[in-house]
Amino acid sequence: MSSVNPSKVDATPSSRSAVSERDVGAASTNRPFVVATFAITADGKVTTKNFEPVDFTSCEDKLHLFRQRASADAVLIGHTSLERDNVRLGLPADLQELRSKRGQSRSPIRVIISNKGRIDERLKIFQSDISPIIVFSTKRMPQENRKALQTKATLHLTDAKHVDLAVMLKTLRNQYKVGTLACEGGPTLFRALLEEDLIDQLNLTIAPHMFGGATAPTLTGLNNKFLPASVQCSLINMRTIENECFLIYRIKHQRGRRK
Ligand SMILES: NC(=O)c1ccc[n+]([C@@H]2O[C@H](COP(=O)([O-])OP(=O)(O)OC[C@H]3O[C@@H](n4cnc5c(N)ncnc54)[C@H](OP(=O)(O)O)[C@@H]3O)[C@@H](O)[C@H]2O)c1
Repeated sequence: MSSVNPSKVDATPSSRSAVSERDVGAASTNRPFVVATFAITADGKVTTKNFEPVDFTSCEDKLHLFRQRASADAVLIGHTSLERDNVRLGLPADLQELRSKRGQSRSPIRVIISNKGRIDERLKIFQSDISPIIVFSTKRMPQENRKALQTKATLHLTDAKHVDLAVMLKTLRNQYKVGTLACEGGPTLFRALLEEDLIDQLNLTIAPHMFGGATAPTLTGLNNKFLPASVQCSLINMRTIENECFLIYRIKHQRGRRK
C-alpha cells in the first residue's frame, strides 16, 4: 500500500506543498501521517448533548469526508463513534474506482479502537467485507466478544489496561504498511492522540449551525482539563462553499516530541 497524492483530491498549491511534507513526514517517522477530519458547528460542537447521530453538514462536506477517507491507507474510529453512528467506513463506487486506478485496494483498511473491547459484532461495519478490519483493544475484551469478532477482524489485544496509541500507530506502519491514516474521531480519541502529539493534520469543516449546551462535546470532547500543552496550528488551506468553511490545519509538533 502506498500513500496517495492528495493533490488529486484538492489541487490547490497549498495542499500540494502539504503533500510533499506529508510524504517526507511519514517516511521519516515510525508511524503513519495522521489526518483527522471533523465537522463542527459555529459554536464549536461536534454533536448534541445526547451524542445522537446528527446530520448538520452539506453533501459537499460528506464528499469531503469520503475524499479524505479515499486518500488514506487506513481509516481509524473510536468505539463510541462507531457504535453511535453505526458506519461501515466504505466509499462511493467512483472513489473506489479512483483508488483502483492508483494501484491501491478499493477501500482503506478499517481500524477500530476500544479499551474495554465490548464491541457489538452486529454493527454494520462487521457486515461488510469491503476491506480488512483491525481492532486494537485490550485483554479486558470479554471472551464472547473475542469469539464473535475474531472471524470478522484481526484483533490486537494488549495485556495493558489501555491501548498504547504510539504502539498502535507503529504497528499500522510496520505491519500493515499504512503511510496515511485518516482519523474520523470522535473527540475522545482525537484528544488522546493530540495529547501524545500524534496528529499531523486537521481538516475542519465549520457548519452554519449552533447547538449550545455545556454537555455537548467540542472537538476535544468533554474533558474540562487543559491539554498538557497548547497545540499550535498553521492554516494551510481554506475554502468556502456556500455557508460552510473548509479549513486544513497543519499541526506544529513540538521539537523532539514527534514519535
Ligand atoms: N462532528 C464530527 O465530525 C464527529 C466526528 C466523529 C464523531 N462525532 C461524534 O462524537 C460522538 C462520540 O465521541 P466520543 O468522544 O464520545 O467517542 P470516540 O472518541 O468516538 O470513542 C471513545 C471510545 O473509543 C475508545 N477510545 C478512545 N480513545 C482511546 C484510546 N486512547 N485508547 C483506547 N481506546 C480509546 C474507547 O472505547 P471503549 O469505551 O470501548 O473502551 C472510548 O470510550 C458521537 O456522537 C459522534 O457522532 C462527531
